[in-house]
Amino acid sequence: MQKNFDLLIRHATVIDGTGASRYIADIGITGDRIAKIGDLSAYSAKNEIDLGGRVAAPGFIDAHTHDDRMMLSDPEMTPKISQGVTTIIGGNCGVSLAPMPRPIPDPVTPPLNLLDDAGVWFKFPTFGSYLDALKSQPSTTNRAMLVGHTTLRVAVMDDLEQPASPEQIVQMQALVTEAMQAGAIGVSTGLFYEPAVAAPTQEVIDICRPLKVFNGLYCTHMRDEADGVMDSLEETFRIGREVGVPVVISHHKVIGQKNYGRSDETLAFIQKSMAKQPICLDCYPYAAGSTVLSWSRAVTSARVIVTWSKAHPEFAGQDLDKIADKMGVTQEQAINQLLPAGAIYFRMDEGDVQKILQFGPTMIGSDGLPHDASPHPRLWATFPRVLGHYRRGLGLFSLETAVHKMTGLTATNFGLTDRGVIQEGAFADLTLFNEETVDAVATYENPIALSKGIETVIVNGDIVWEHGHVTAARPGRVLSRPVA
Ligand code: ZN
Ligand code: CU
Repeated sequence: MQKNFDLLIRHATVIDGTGASRYIADIGITGDRIAKIGDLSAYSAKNEIDLGGRVAAPGFIDAHTHDDRMMLSDPEMTPKISQGVTTIIGGNCGVSLAPMPRPIPDPVTPPLNLLDDAGVWFKFPTFGSYLDALKSQPSTTNRAMLVGHTTLRVAVMDDLEQPASPEQIVQMQALVTEAMQAGAIGVSTGLFYEPAVAAPTQEVIDICRPLKVFNGLYCTHMRDEADGVMDSLEETFRIGREVGVPVVISHHKVIGQKNYGRSDETLAFIQKSMAKQPICLDCYPYAAGSTVLSWSRAVTSARVIVTWSKAHPEFAGQDLDKIADKMGVTQEQAINQLLPAGAIYFRMDEGDVQKILQFGPTMIGSDGLPHDASPHPRLWATFPRVLGHYRRGLGLFSLETAVHKMTGLTATNFGLTDRGVIQEGAFADLTLFNEETVDAVATYENPIALSKGIETVIVNGDIVWEHGHVTAARPGRVLSRPVA
């Protein structure tokens, strides 16, 4: 008998990613697309899944990742696919693996070492050669990539403590143009980090100039997320206006005890500014951040957990104060002995985290760090935590809204055509889950753990996750942003 579809999902509660109310339907998939939605009881398929009323949502889009190397070194992408993530945005916080037209410094300049402390993966002289590697060795997830401003500085400048010279700006503009022609979706900055702190606003504007003709995005880990957060928002919006492109405020947060509660101020300003120019933002669902270890960050934190250390790998996963006790030194001295290293910093207000998550335009992004020995739990648990703890547990928003923040909203903001929605003709990226059980399992103490309730994950029509395991399929594609 002739089969109508390759895959037929029966009795789904469809949450379509647009924010619209749920409905019951069957979903027929042919090739890489959703072919038909409705009562398909008269149809059959080569492969069928009966959901019995459980949820079918668009595959989640991780708006903020550092998966640039994981896609090549661990193409099963288990931390992501097991959460229902089917597309990742990479190259964030100024940190991308490419282009690196000359040898990377040894030791690798922090924070570029978040991607690869040994430096061997910074081997792509052009952005195009990196995207070619992603295309020829596909992973489970789709990806859309940014080119990092810090990577460009390290590629072109010998003294990172200076503003770029006019010649260096021209060189970096050429690298941005090459990246955009090859299929990058924009530029990211990490103006907060040491190798980019010396870059004045004008340097960023000049380097980003080529974005305009490609309809690229400007994504930023802002210069200051603490006392100077309002000035940093102003700077971000100015860059967007002068370059003439949309901006994405990465992992929006307010840091430091004396700034607790200031999300009221930042969100009001973001909302007001959105009326004048295109602005997007993402957030991870935790009151602790994670990045490279430093005393200046540790001293402003209520608690610090070391996530990796090159000199003392045995201390990964332990609290800094306990490590200092064991070493018999001060915490500042302990840090000097641990470096290079990474850490989790507790220095946000849970009330701010909830307000930012609840803010209508906020997308969900993990900011997970896949190469840390004892990573922040956001790597394995961001999406189930939003659906479990924040949606079902605290009731911050409806399930339809939660799904929209991780699918349709994100696809629209990043220009991912025919993704992030369940509609006839859209790509068949789907996450099938149980809304009663979905939740994070990973914790700060036990950070590597599969989440609960994510049953089946489909990318471009292929099942990549089922029965708690990654399948052999590697259907992930490189996605680009349409030129307006
Ligand atoms: Zn960042
Ligand atoms: Cu980041």
